[in-house]
Amino acid sequence: MTILLLNGPNLNLLGTRQTSVYGATTLSEIETLTRSHAEAAGYKLDALQSNHEGVLIDAIHSAKGKSQGIILNAGAYTHTSIALMDAISSVELPVIEVHLSNIHAREPFRHQSYIARVAVGQIAGFGPDSYILAVDALVAHLSEAAS
Ligand code: DQA
Repeated sequence: MTILLLNGPNLNLLGTRQTSVYGATTLSEIETLTRSHAEAAGYKLDALQSNHEGVLIDAIHSAKGKSQGIILNAGAYTHTSIALMDAISSVELPVIEVHLSNIHAREPFRHQSYIARVAVGQIAGFGPDSYILAVDALVAHLSEAAS
């Protein structure tokens, strides 16, 4: 049983990027923390980051048949990408939308999420803990769906 952790544009710079907004934890540290938490719940974690919308779409397509669900921080594509939204609808896998920052407390253009329309739910504002909470949310969703 596998969870796909997908991170979008600019998240490769975590640790040095706008640390007052996004904190000092690097993406590789977040992936390690998320993987340990997923493994403790009995899931393997595949992790991918890309700055390219098409690569993220391909990864969502490839998850079908390989992963039981997806944890997605689409970065700024959250607010713009109908193509990512359609990719999620096409594969019919459960997606938990994640953000380090509380997007609803920020600029108005960040309040809109195309991902939220097709996600099981959204977790935002808890820094790296958003990813841990997303694992818990996805695992709970998957076990409810299986029962
Ligand atoms: C983000 C929030 C987005 O608005 C922003 O474009 C990001 C990061 C977050 O994790 O808080 O790149 O997704």
